[in-house]
Amino acid sequence: MSSGAILLTGATGFLGRRLCRELLVASEADVHCLLRDSDTAPASERLRRVAPARSRRLIAVPGDLTAPLLGLTPDRYDELATTVNAVYHCAASVNLAAAYGRTAPVNVSGTERLLTLLDRRAELGRPPARLHFVSSAGVFVTALATGTITVSEGTVPTRATAGPSGYLLSKADAEQRVDQALDRGTDITIHRPGIITGDSATGATSPDTDLLGCLLRAAVALHSIPVGPGHLPMETVDTVARGIVRLSQTAPRGSVFHLTRPVRIDVPFIALQRAGYPLLPVPEAGWYHQVWQHAWEPEVYPAYVVSTASGLTEHTAPRLPVIDSTATYAAARSVGIDAPPLDAPYFDRLVANLIAAGALLPP
Ligand SMILES: NC(=O)c1ccc[n+]([C@@H]2O[C@H](COP(=O)([O-])OP(=O)(O)OC[C@H]3O[C@@H](n4cnc5c(N)ncnc54)[C@H](OP(=O)(O)O)[C@@H]3O)[C@@H](O)[C@H]2O)c1
Repeated sequence: MSSGAILLTGATGFLGRRLCRELLVASEADVHCLLRDSDTAPASERLRRVAPARSRRLIAVPGDLTAPLLGLTPDRYDELATTVNAVYHCAASVNLAAAYGRTAPVNVSGTERLLTLLDRRAELGRPPARLHFVSSAGVFVTALATGTITVSEGTVPTRATAGPSGYLLSKADAEQRVDQALDRGTDITIHRPGIITGDSATGATSPDTDLLGCLLRAAVALHSIPVGPGHLPMETVDTVARGIVRLSQTAPRGSVFHLTRPVRIDVPFIALQRAGYPLLPVPEAGWYHQVWQHAWEPEVYPAYVVSTASGLTEHTAPRLPVIDSTATYAAARSVGIDAPPLDAPYFDRLVANLIAAGALLPP
């Protein structure tokens, strides 16, 4: 990795914390973390609480993606534009239930502001910096309806492939802005994870935001699990973070990566049965119908939101395209990343963690 400084957004988030750790390990660069704060002291304190280790290379930058100049003074903005030669843009408003107008200021305008920072760097006569943009495989949730059965790294998302969720529409619009910048010659790589779930070794996750955790919680509340041929696209948070950092070190400009693997729908849910929950297997479409009918229950509502974002209607299960990630995982293996299996022992660790965190009532 080149020797200049790094700017990381979203360092306090589920994926961002892990990215922060990987960046410290994989480089010797200072890592400037843009945190949504108005002053240095609270930002530094927040960073200290989430940081993987005490490091003088971690620098808190109080700011805001929704504010002009990222909420920085003109001097601090220019200082950042001058010193930072890689931007890892992980921050987002990740709220599948929010309207487009709520998510776009962070997800679309925030991405535009980071592209403007790179332009400012060029104006200041510095060599080009690279943006590593964390998008989402969710920008393809309704690709089947547009006639796309298999989505490869080269497939371009549109508003039609992103489905009805304001969040995913804003991620698709952000990708469009990134594509336009690529056309202008900006140096960018794009990373599209699927569902990001718990650590591969410990199962530790973010119980409130893990989308798979939402589906598992609904299964416990409904006393049933979905079975069938469907798949969910997912990857563990540590593999996604390591993948983004390691792949970005050697990837040519314009590379796109799909850090997500298909897991048969029943595999994570059967872990609930092994943990001792008495749950009835139900064909996938029928299970989603139950989610729809019980959407008003607090334990089911988050699963309803996740499913409607994926095109759920009252009588159909979400129909997801195949996310082809063959090229990404081949590239990952070539840089020494061997993604651990997403198998029964892994999902047992995930369920045990959700129980320990209080996200699932014990069986
Ligand atoms: N989670 C998934 O399953 C998933 C799947 C596919 C793609 N992704 C993508 O992966 C990335 C990380 O997701 P995550 O689940 O880790 O999200 P998360 O835990 O909700 O973290 C979001 C981060 O963005 C920051 N942020 C929000 N608004 C901001 C603003 N106005 N200015 C500066 N920072 C702001 C948050 O800071 P605060 O601490 O101040 O709130 C937080 O650090 C996102 O780009 C998301 O779209 C996530």
